[in-house]
Amino acid sequence: MPNPQSPVASDQSRLVAASLRRVPLCGYRKPAPGIHPPHLHPDYLASLKRAPAQPLVPIPQTLSEITGPCFQPHHLRIGADLTGQGKGAPLGQKMLLTGRVLDEDGKPVRHTLVEIWQANAAGRYRHLVDQHAAPIDPNFVGKGQLLTDDEGRYQFKTIKPGAYPWRNHPNAWRPPHIHFSLFGPAFSTRLVTQMYFPGDPLLPFDPIFNGIRDEAARQRLIAQFDWQTTVPEEALGFRFDIVLRGRLETPMENRP
Ligand SMILES: [Fe+2]
Repeated sequence: MPNPQSPVASDQSRLVAASLRRVPLCGYRKPAPGIHPPHLHPDYLASLKRAPAQPLVPIPQTLSEITGPCFQPHHLRIGADLTGQGKGAPLGQKMLLTGRVLDEDGKPVRHTLVEIWQANAAGRYRHLVDQHAAPIDPNFVGKGQLLTDDEGRYQFKTIKPGAYPWRNHPNAWRPPHIHFSLFGPAFSTRLVTQMYFPGDPLLPFDPIFNGIRDEAARQRLIAQFDWQTTVPEEALGFRFDIVLRGRLETPMENRP
């Protein structure tokens, strides 16, 4: 690696800077109204405390925003099989969770980092903050990581999480959900969201899910049951495609 102080290095830096100036920056369009939840959503009490009190400051899209980290397999610390991280099998309904990560033109987002975390089958996270009376499963950590393949595909093996109570309002229960974090090709494509299950009776009552005003956008957070990935006598299949930015982008979860 050249010494950054050397004349050769500074010449290289000038060449790189000059070539970058000639490349037109291709930014991302602004989200359409209603796709992402507002920072302040009174039905979701926590948003009252953390929503910005001042107007947001627009940040122009420069190289810092339209580029991002590139992850390699050796960066992964945990695997994509959440049912194999303990000494035995975790309790609950096994499921294969598959999908594709796409850009707004339907092109695959290749080799991008996808991370999930979730409660166990009884609705309990393995985390100090979670003091719900449901049991911890010693064979279930509840975290997974992978990189998408050449077609933008991903697949996790896990168990279906349980619903859990929270104290947002009287008798409040979060519908079963799986948390997702994706980086995509740029900091502007970063997505942190939650995936839900089809036909869940708790969905109409969940302030986080319903903080998204656009009905079609809300539906994009619900996985589809999938016979093609369902394994006989082993695991149910669910499909959840994710779009990073653009007209059909997957909504963020309600967090600043
Ligand atoms: Fe959660």
